Formats: sequence, structure tokens, C-alpha cells
Amino acid sequence: MKIMTTTSELRKELSKLERPVGFVPTMGYLHEGHLSLVDKAREDCVAVVVSIFANPSQFAPDEDLENYPRDIDRDVELLENAGVDLVWIPTVEVMYPEGYQTWIDVDQLSKLLEGTFRPTHFRGVATVVSKLFNAVGPDKAYFGQKDAQQAAVIQRMVRDLNFPIEIIICPIVREPDGVAMSSRNTYLDQEERLAARCLSRGLFLARDAYLNGERRAEIIKKIVSDEVEFEELAQLQYVSCADPNTLEELENQIQDCLVSMAVFVGRTRLIDNIILGK
Ligand code: PAF
Repeated sequence: MKIMTTTSELRKELSKLERPVGFVPTMGYLHEGHLSLVDKAREDCVAVVVSIFANPSQFAPDEDLENYPRDIDRDVELLENAGVDLVWIPTVEVMYPEGYQTWIDVDQLSKLLEGTFRPTHFRGVATVVSKLFNAVGPDKAYFGQKDAQQAAVIQRMVRDLNFPIEIIICPIVREPDGVAMSSRNTYLDQEERLAARCLSRGLFLARDAYLNGERRAEIIKKIVSDEVEFEELAQLQYVSCADPNTLEELENQIQDCLVSMAVFVGRTRLIDNIILGK
């Protein structure tokens, strides 16, 4: 497995790879969720490239960029064992050289849901992902359904900007107790980790209700919020029932629906979601 930091090294090594090339962009501190993306890329493609870059532009000044967990040695070992061909670990200077001023804004989708609370987040994501796509030039790129809105934003961006890349969205990987895998779970202490189960518990109860015929958006959302409110260490920021494609909030009777939520467990902000109906 080759490890690179500069774009010129990357370009040289990329030219030696056979196609199709699968690409998994990450911010590091890898877990089973990331590795499931790598496995899928391995299945679909001849070569697999992974990037590790904690992208400053998708964090607001009061967010956790400084404390974002990092362990490059462990990440590299995991990727080596997973059969990755190239790992690209660019520096901030490589990605955002002095004077940097070009941004990608996926206008409508970025404002909804997460965008209400993190107004600059998706501009940072869309910009860095398009730069990574330009540098790596993959045939397919893999993202997790855990970041449902990110997946929608990137799919829209790829269509709008004619990136010749197939975007593959892979299922959420959960711990045995239902908690969605996330690098941020590492911030939770023991009690908070137990409390974090309220997110998936709420979503699974909503799915049960949907399977039993419940179609009222307000009731689905109440099932989720009741489960969070019952948990002392958890504070619901939002729960939404939205159209899975447009992310517009659904009123009254739902058919296909993305139920998504953000919850503070202690000081850690967690997100989770489930798709009903599809
Ligand atoms: O999902 C992530 O880890 C990040 O948002 C991504 C796609 C690597 C862009 O920084």
C-alpha cells in the first residue's frame, strides 16, 4: 500500500492503477463503518484509494476540529489490512493553499436539516469532496448513509457539475446495541455511551410504527422525540420526517420518508437516521 501527501506523488501513483478505481474519502479515525465502504469498493473495483483529511472548512469555529480524534498509524494499519492500494493524506496547505477562495455551494439542499444548525458545513463538504474527486479522478466513490444529507448533497453536486463518477451510498453500520458507528462516539463517557442508544431506539420504534401502518409525520416524530426526552443525558436538537430526495419536510401523511435527528448526549452532538418505506 502506498501512502502519499502531495498531489504530484498522488498523480504519479494513480497513473499506475488499473481501472475501475474506487474512492473512499474519510476524515480518519476509522471504524467499521469506513471499512464497510472500503470492502464495497474492493468488491466493485480493481483498485481502491482512500483519503484521510480532517477538513477544516466543514467545521464552524465553535465545533470540534481541534479535538477531532486522530490516529494515523492505526488508520494506515487498518487500511493496509483491508487491501487498499493508495492512501492519500494531504495537509491543509495542500488542500487550501494561501489565498484559497473557491467554494462549491449546493444551494437548496445545504440549507435544510443539518444546514439549519450548521450553515457553513455543506459548503465545506462539497468543496473538499470536489477537490478530492478532481485529484483522485475515481470511477466510483463511496459514502455512508449515516450522513444522509451529505450523501444527498454530493449526489446533487455530481449531477450538477458533471463529475463522471458513480456515487454509491452504503448502509449505516451499527454497534450491537444499535448505536450508529461514528468517530465522535469516542467523545462519550460510559454513561453517555449508554444514553446514546436512545437515538436508534427511537428510530427503530418509528420504523415499527410505520410497519404497523402509521403514516402521520407528527406521530412518527413524536415517537422518536419521546424516546430521546426519556433519556436524562440526551437533548434533542431536531427530528425530521423529510422527502428522501429533496429533504423537504413532509406534513401529514408520509410515504417514503427519511427520518433524521440530531441529539446532544452530554456535549457530544450525534446524528442518526432511517429511511421508511423504500
Ligand atoms: O463524511 C466524512 O467523513 C467527510 O464529511 C468527508 C466526506 C470525508 C469530507 O470531508
